[in-house]
Amino acid sequence: MSAMPRGFVDLVVNEDETPIQLLKQIFVTLQTRRLRGPADARAVAEEETLHGLLQDLAEREPIRIQRSGPHLLVDRTRVRPHPEVRLLVKNLVQDLDRFGIGGLVLDPALDKDSLRSFLDAYPRLDAVLLENDVAVKVTDSRGDDRIVLEEEVEIVPGVVIFPYNPESAEEGLDPTERRRQARRTFFKALKAARHIFKQAQLNRIAELRKTRAVVHEMIDTVVEEEFSLLGLAAIHSFDEYTFQHSVHVAVLSVALGQRLGLARSELSSLGVAAMFHDVGKTRVPRRVLWKPGRYDKDEWRIMRKHPLAGARELLRMGGSSDLAVRVMLVSCEHHMRYDGSGYPKLGDDWQQGLYSRIVALADCFDAMTASRVYMERPFTPDAVVRYMLENAGRMFDPDLLREFVGLIGLYPVGSLVRLENGELAVVTEPPASAAEVERPRVRILLPGDHGFFAGDERSLSDGPAVDPRYRIKASCHPLDFGVEMDDLLEEHYLDDVVESAA
Ligand SMILES: [Fe+2]
Ligand SMILES: [Fe+2]
Repeated sequence: MSAMPRGFVDLVVNEDETPIQLLKQIFVTLQTRRLRGPADARAVAEEETLHGLLQDLAEREPIRIQRSGPHLLVDRTRVRPHPEVRLLVKNLVQDLDRFGIGGLVLDPALDKDSLRSFLDAYPRLDAVLLENDVAVKVTDSRGDDRIVLEEEVEIVPGVVIFPYNPESAEEGLDPTERRRQARRTFFKALKAARHIFKQAQLNRIAELRKTRAVVHEMIDTVVEEEFSLLGLAAIHSFDEYTFQHSVHVAVLSVALGQRLGLARSELSSLGVAAMFHDVGKTRVPRRVLWKPGRYDKDEWRIMRKHPLAGARELLRMGGSSDLAVRVMLVSCEHHMRYDGSGYPKLGDDWQQGLYSRIVALADCFDAMTASRVYMERPFTPDAVVRYMLENAGRMFDPDLLREFVGLIGLYPVGSLVRLENGELAVVTEPPASAAEVERPRVRILLPGDHGFFAGDERSLSDGPAVDPRYRIKASCHPLDFGVEMDDLLEEHYLDDVVESAA
C-alpha cells in the first residue's frame, strides 16, 4: 500500500480551498482574540495572517459569507462539513444567528484599521447593532428575545452585514444563480477531463483526487440543479469531443445514480469512474480515433482495445484502492452488454457491474446523440431513447434503462417536437417527474426572417393533458426545419441575457 501514489489513497475532498482557508483564519483569529485578548502577541499575529490572506484575494470580488439553515455559504457555495471545518461552521452559524444577521460581505481589499475595528466589534455585534438602531429586539413564539437586523449596513469600511432571510435560506440560491453555478461546475469538469486526457497522453499520473473534487461539486449541482446540468450535457458543439463526452457521461451517470438512491460516496466513485471511462482512447492512434465515417475491420479491432487499454492505464497510474479498482472495472466493462455480448470478452460468466451498467447507458446515449457533429443525418435524442428502449434487456439493464428514461424523458433535452396545436418547440428541461416522461419543459420556436428563433418557455406538465398546447404530437428532425439545435441550446443554457429574461 505504501508505494501507492497519493492520488489513489488520499480521498480527502480537495476543492477550491481559498474560502475554507479564509474561514478558518477568521475563526482562529476570533478565537485567539477571545482567549488571549486582542492585544496579545499571538492574537496580533493571527490578525496579521488574516489580513495577509485577504490581501492575496484583493483582486477578487467581495466575499459573501452567509448562513442558510445550519449551513454556511461562501460565495453562494455551501461549505461542505469536512471534519476539520465542522466546528467552525457550527460556531460561525451560531454567531450569525445570535447577532440576528444573515451574513456579511467582506471586501478583501479592506485596510488593517477596518479589519481591526471589525474584529473588535464582532464579539458584541448584536449590542453594536442595537446601539446604532439598525437592529431590533423581538420576542419569538417561544418567548425568547431575538435580535433582528432590519437592513443591510456597512459596519466598517469594507464589511457589509445583511439581514437573515429564512425564505431565501430555505430555497438556497435563486434560479439564475443556481444555473450559473451549474455552468461553472460543468466547465470546471470539462477542464478536469482535459487534464486527465493530457496527463494520460504524456504518460503522467492523472490525479484521481482532483477529479473527485470536481465530481463532488457535480453531485451537489445534480442534487440542487439537475436540469441545468442535464441541459449542458446535451450540447455537443464544442470541439473537444472526448473531454465533453467524459463530462456528459459523468453528469448523466451521477444523475442516474442519485435517482437510484446511491450514497454520496458511491456517487463520487461512480462519477470519477465515468470521467475516466474512455481514458484508454489515449492509446488509440489519432488516425483511427478521429477518422470521419465508418471504421474498417482493422480499425474496429484497434478501437475495441480501448476498454482494456484504459484499465491498464489506470493500473499503471498505480491503483489498488477501492476507488481505483472501481474505475478500472468501469473502463474495462463499459462496452460489455447486459446479455453478455459486447467487448472485451472476459469469459462466459463475467457480468457487468452496477457502475458499468450505469455508465454504459450514459455512454451510449451521449455517443449516439453526439453523432450530430459528424453524421449527415444524425440521430435525434428521442430517436436514441427509442433505440435504447428497443434494446432493453439485450444491450442494457432494463430496470436501469427505465430509470434513465424517467430521468431524461422520452424527449430528452435537445429534441425538436411538434405540439398538437402545430407549434414547433425545443425540449429544454426533462419532465418534472418520471410519471410524465412525455411532458417535458419546452421552448416554443417562432418563425422569423432568418429561420426560427426561441420564444417563451412552457412546461408541458403545467397545463391540462387534453390541451393541445401542452401535448407533443411528434418529434421532428432539426434538419427538416433548418433548426440549429446546438445554437439554440447554447443560447438557452449559456446566455445570461436569455436567462434573466426567461
Ligand atoms: Fe468507450
Ligand atoms: Fe465513451
